Amino acid sequence: MSRKPFVGANWKCSLESLGEVDKLLEQLETAFAPADAPDIKDELDVCVFPPYVFLERVRRRLSSGFLVGSQNAWDAVAGYKCTGVTTAKMLKELGCHWVMLGHSDRRNTLGETDALLAEKVGMCLEAGLSVNLTMGETKEQRDSGKALDTLILQLSTVVPSVAKDAWGRIALAYEPVWAIGEGAQPCDPEEAQRIHAALRAWIRDNVGAEAADACRILYTGSVNEDNASKYGALPDVDGFIVGRAGLDSKKFISICETLLESKKAGSS
Ligand code: PGA
Repeated sequence: MSRKPFVGANWKCSLESLGEVDKLLEQLETAFAPADAPDIKDELDVCVFPPYVFLERVRRRLSSGFLVGSQNAWDAVAGYKCTGVTTAKMLKELGCHWVMLGHSDRRNTLGETDALLAEKVGMCLEAGLSVNLTMGETKEQRDSGKALDTLILQLSTVVPSVAKDAWGRIALAYEPVWAIGEGAQPCDPEEAQRIHAALRAWIRDNVGAEAADACRILYTGSVNEDNASKYGALPDVDGFIVGRAGLDSKKFISICETLLESKKAGSS
């Protein structure tokens, strides 16, 4: 395993009360701390992405092996003191390790552009955060044969914001927009591998071999405890971002264990 596998739980805004948050945190601690097993978090980066308002609580209550990430950061105009903004520096100060940028909820529903995301990526890296950059094509873009072109545009716009030695702090998440959420069909694993390999090859050709080897590429879209092994076995899939299954501690640990087993089997 040249790259450390990564699994992130994107809570979106599914939990809205402190009681719900505390309950899930307790369940995660129990699920990830079996007395008779080595700590899976030593071999796998496990990160939870709560909403801003719960970050402090999650960071304080979860044991130190878990990573904590923000679902967003906002630094629209550098140096401008903007109302209602949470900056990358604030997130770093709070003890966050990761920040998720570019989820389709923010690109397609809230209109975040590649140029804005490029700016945010640069600021987050500069503040010392690692960046989970989510990118993906819509159904229309896929149906018109533009899936890869769309992804390369999303990626290439952000590349100037990433220093050559910072690619180890980037985890791209391939998120076919048509594959996320209730009722969606996950992307066929072979197709996910084809896309991940193409993205890695693009980074190799346009940034360099070290960057391509260091950068993790995650799959996101209807990952669950039953299909995780199919993706985990793929050489260019370094882990997952999970939505719904990340709200259930038993499903979440099962996905983490399955990924790790698949990666170990693949490297032996
Ligand atoms: P899902 O969500 O795993 O519930 O499909 C993924 C996401 O939107 O990040």
